[in-house]
Amino acid sequence: MDSETKAEFMRVLVTGGSGLLGKAIEQVVKQEGGCLEGEQWTFLSSKEANLVDLQQTRAVFQKYRPTHVIHLAAKVGGLYLHMKENLHFLVILCSDQCKKPEWIFNCSNQNMIVCVCVDFTDYRGYFAQHGRRYTAVIPTNVYGPYDNFNFENGHVLSALMHKTYAAKKEGTPLQVWGSGTPRRQFIYSLDVARLFLWVLREYDEIDPIILSVGEEEELPIKDAVEMIADALDFKGQIVFDTSKSDGQIKKTASNTKLRRYLPDFTFTPLSEGIKKTCDWFVHNYDIART
Ligand SMILES: NC(=O)c1ccc[n+]([C@@H]2O[C@H](COP(=O)([O-])OP(=O)(O)OC[C@H]3O[C@@H](n4cnc5c(N)ncnc54)[C@H](OP(=O)(O)O)[C@@H]3O)[C@@H](O)[C@H]2O)c1
Repeated sequence: MDSETKAEFMRVLVTGGSGLLGKAIEQVVKQEGGCLEGEQWTFLSSKEANLVDLQQTRAVFQKYRPTHVIHLAAKVGGLYLHMKENLHFLVILCSDQCKKPEWIFNCSNQNMIVCVCVDFTDYRGYFAQHGRRYTAVIPTNVYGPYDNFNFENGHVLSALMHKTYAAKKEGTPLQVWGSGTPRRQFIYSLDVARLFLWVLREYDEIDPIILSVGEEEELPIKDAVEMIADALDFKGQIVFDTSKSDGQIKKTASNTKLRRYLPDFTFTPLSEGIKKTCDWFVHNYDIART
């Protein structure tokens, strides 16, 4: 089915629409021409529908009657929040409320791939038995505007941006938690959003797909710290607090499958994405999640 035919009846419901990825998808849809004629897009926050409340969830699905769901809503946090509140990190699934839509795209965390693989098996079962199509999209470490910039609970880059901003303002050294040696593949949220639109329109597999920059782009966190310092023009001392956990030393993800489909997709270079995110943070400090 081509994109134009799909557009005739696509009503897309995005849960978690107020978060890092939801806002990025909204920007691509509303400002980069990502919305095709005839499509309806709805972005929900927990205020419009708390998905742990089944009644509310049912009402929302009845109201919008989505043909496609991009399911992003979740409790999300960086390493230190995971260590502190690990048991709270349960994926919110829409359960039987989601049987109606034609497609459901669940955004999974690479760390959770082992526990959610049960869901992937279910996805195949749902398709085989009921013709319902679910797939999981697995981005690596996402960063960008509207991230959670909280020192303790945020993702590594957003928390470091906030710390660097504060250290510059207060004239203190920048305290980086951990040794800075763990290696990560970072992906800009707008790139993930553009890839999400491609997944929605073109990716017909039930099997999950990893959305990531290449393995060769994996770099030590200390390199990213330098890029953040440059972006925020921080000239002070940088201290690595090795009493804090490093987390996994590396968790390299392969984007071979993605590249097979999209050999020419251009990822935003990390230094450019960091600069854009820092600029957004500085200009939106009052509304940013800190
Ligand atoms: N960021 C990453 O690096 C990354 C990597 C891989 C996978 N993922 C996955 O991608 C998804 C989105 O992540 P994100 O980084 O965009 O997270 P985020 O910025 O923290 O946004 C979370 C979203 O979930 C909503 N939400 C939370 N609890 C809810 C509830 N009970 N009912 C309805 N909505 C609720 C929040 O709404 P409010 O604003 O109203 O609280 C917010 O819109 C998550 O499933 C995450 O695990 C993220």
